[in-house]
Amino acid sequence: MASPASSAPGGVAVVGSGLIGRSWAMLFASAGFKVKLYDIEPRQVTHALDSIRKEMKSLEQSGSLKGSLGAEGQLSLISGCSDIREAVEGALHVQECVPENLELKKQLFAQLDGIVGDQVVLSSSSSCLLPSRLFSGLVHVKQCLVVHPVNPPYYVPLVELVPHPETAPATVDRTYALMRKIGQSPVKLTKEVDGFALNRLQYAVISEAWRLVEEGVVSPGDLDLVMSDGLGMRYAFIGPLETMHLNAEGMLSYCDRYSEGMKHVLKTFGPIPEFSGAAAEKVHQAMCVKVPDDPEHLAARREWRDRCLMRLARLKSQLQPQ
Ligand code: NAI
Repeated sequence: MASPASSAPGGVAVVGSGLIGRSWAMLFASAGFKVKLYDIEPRQVTHALDSIRKEMKSLEQSGSLKGSLGAEGQLSLISGCSDIREAVEGALHVQECVPENLELKKQLFAQLDGIVGDQVVLSSSSSCLLPSRLFSGLVHVKQCLVVHPVNPPYYVPLVELVPHPETAPATVDRTYALMRKIGQSPVKLTKEVDGFALNRLQYAVISEAWRLVEEGVVSPGDLDLVMSDGLGMRYAFIGPLETMHLNAEGMLSYCDRYSEGMKHVLKTFGPIPEFSGAAAEKVHQAMCVKVPDDPEHLAARREWRDRCLMRLARLKSQLQPQ
């Protein structure tokens, strides 16, 4: 599919230069793609280019820059743009990263629909808006899909590819190949569903975590340890299904041994929490003891998290599957 930067056209347009737009720009540049970074707010683009420069230099210094080009080489592939037509001209992939607002995104895709040709893929970074709401009625609907990254995308490679019912299979295949090429780990959903796969899993975990804390079974701090020092240790390497497979003599043996016990526990799960009131206060206070919720402490903790994720990503790439 998309050809390397050296043989433009074939580059990528990133529309929206906030947190996620910047990450996409860095990922595409790391694989040698030319990137045009557009934002409705030109100052945002300048700010984004500055922050990308700083981040790439720092990644290079710590030996964590992705790709075979150096920071300067990658930076030279990314250019800012204040005109959307110019941004998408010649692009084979457009990655939309504007705020999570249905009307705003629909307007933008309607605008793109009127500009682009038949060869480009129009992809939304939306975390939860369904493709049927974003793309229905567009002339180029076959070329549209959601490509949902996980924050921070530079260190967490998963992307969910979610098609509209009318998305062409070739659009999904092409995007899958592009994601592999830039070092991400794509998964294909065959149809849209609220929350896609990642947030459905995440919300299942969050809601049971909340119930356990609300019912006073475990403290908020200990609840987090159950994941970070327990389940999460293996989930960084194998998923819940493979965990089942390995925790018995294969999957069928696991189901045979544990399904009754699982169903017994699952039947005791409570209703959807409200995530408000006294329980929210209690969890908030506990979290603030660990990480005070002022901008400095939150930013420092996020930086620490990102450094951990970066090292985990390196470890995972060193540990080849047996
Ligand atoms: P952000 O608020 O950091 O950046 C949005 C950017 O879009 C801003 O620079 C803004 O000026 C620009 N913008 C607004 N209207 C525009 C328009 N009409 N044309 C061009 N640019 C426009 O938002 P963020 O966090 O980067 O999120 C972008 C998308 O990525 C959202 O759909 C979000 O749900 C999704 N996402 C966000 C994640 C996160 O953790 N922040 C994780 C995964 C997906």
